[in-house]
Amino acid sequence: MITFNRPYCVGTEAELIATAFANKSISGDGPFGKKAQTQLEEQLGVEKVLLTTSCTHALEMAAILLDLQPGDEIIVPSYTFVSTALAFVMHGAKPVFADIRPDTLNIDETKLEPLVTHRTRAIVVVHYAGIGCEMDTIMGIAKQHSLIVIEDNAHGLYGKYKEKYLGTFGTLATQSFHETKNITCGEGGALLINEPSYSERAEIIREKGTNRSLFFRGEVDKYTWVDKGSSYVLSDILAAFLHAQLNEADKIQIKRKAIWNYYYEHLKDWAIANDVRLPIIPEHCEQAYHMFYLLMPSLEIRTHFIKYLKENEISAVFHYLPLHKSDMGRKLGGEQSHCPVTENVSERLVRLPFFNDMAEEELTIVTKIVNHF
Ligand SMILES: Cc1ncc(COP(=O)(O)O)c(C=O)c1O
Repeated sequence: MITFNRPYCVGTEAELIATAFANKSISGDGPFGKKAQTQLEEQLGVEKVLLTTSCTHALEMAAILLDLQPGDEIIVPSYTFVSTALAFVMHGAKPVFADIRPDTLNIDETKLEPLVTHRTRAIVVVHYAGIGCEMDTIMGIAKQHSLIVIEDNAHGLYGKYKEKYLGTFGTLATQSFHETKNITCGEGGALLINEPSYSERAEIIREKGTNRSLFFRGEVDKYTWVDKGSSYVLSDILAAFLHAQLNEADKIQIKRKAIWNYYYEHLKDWAIANDVRLPIIPEHCEQAYHMFYLLMPSLEIRTHFIKYLKENEISAVFHYLPLHKSDMGRKLGGEQSHCPVTENVSERLVRLPFFNDMAEEELTIVTKIVNHF
């Protein structure tokens, strides 16, 4: 069976975890946590990075930082993972669902203005498949209406929009290091802070509402409860794992680029002949090589295709069910949303197996079998 995902180790993870034990420091913000944070800050050119237990938790931190009041709204794409909306709902916001562009499947910036009301606080964007949203327009709309932009960059680590890293546009951005991501530590995430005025409060929120980080740095002589928060710090065992992977980020990205290009080259003729749409990467975007998806002509054909691949021992998956039509989305008023592109794409998209050490032999098998469909 060629699985959809296979966790990848660069080889030094166990050694660095052993070092974390030898350091006698395995809780949060130990030596490896600091190293991994600095690595990400330097690699991306971000003011401040805080490692978190997941991208969902980094999004929750962003929600707490917004100090949402009852009735406040956030605009989110309907075509995304639950967490993009859930994190803000958990902290009091009403989600307003936006449709996506038919080409990149990113939030449709041309449909945002009518969704802005006097209660809108933030626009949360997702760089779907690690391909940048139209950030110039989105940042312009946000500025005009005094809104905060938060980038859910779970897919987009190392992707660029107009030569600038994704995750460096919004006031805040979030990363995921879940097993399925390019760089992983099993479960993990990060909050990227591009606006320094948010840093001190973010540290407090991540440390159960206490000013413990300031205490550890010697900036206060005792620490106490000062704000809202939760337990969002990543253990140094996982940070050691993450540090090992971040050390190899360039090599990982090269491998993934080769896989993506192989798929594209070996499927493009078949796609044209069969009315299948391959991913579209705008000229001004450098993608993160996070996934390879196909847009099948219909739901029926997609169902047949996934079944056919399974019969041939290939696991392919689809996602996302439109959030505005989910049980929870509907309870939150989502039914009034107009997201025809989301609804259509949700029925037609399928993701092919894609993981860092996918062998050429496996790629040959998948592409040959797809070509026979
Ligand atoms: C767009 C998006 N946001 C958020 C998440 C949640 O990430 P995590 O599992 O690290 O909480 C995911 C997970 O795949 C995702 O795809």
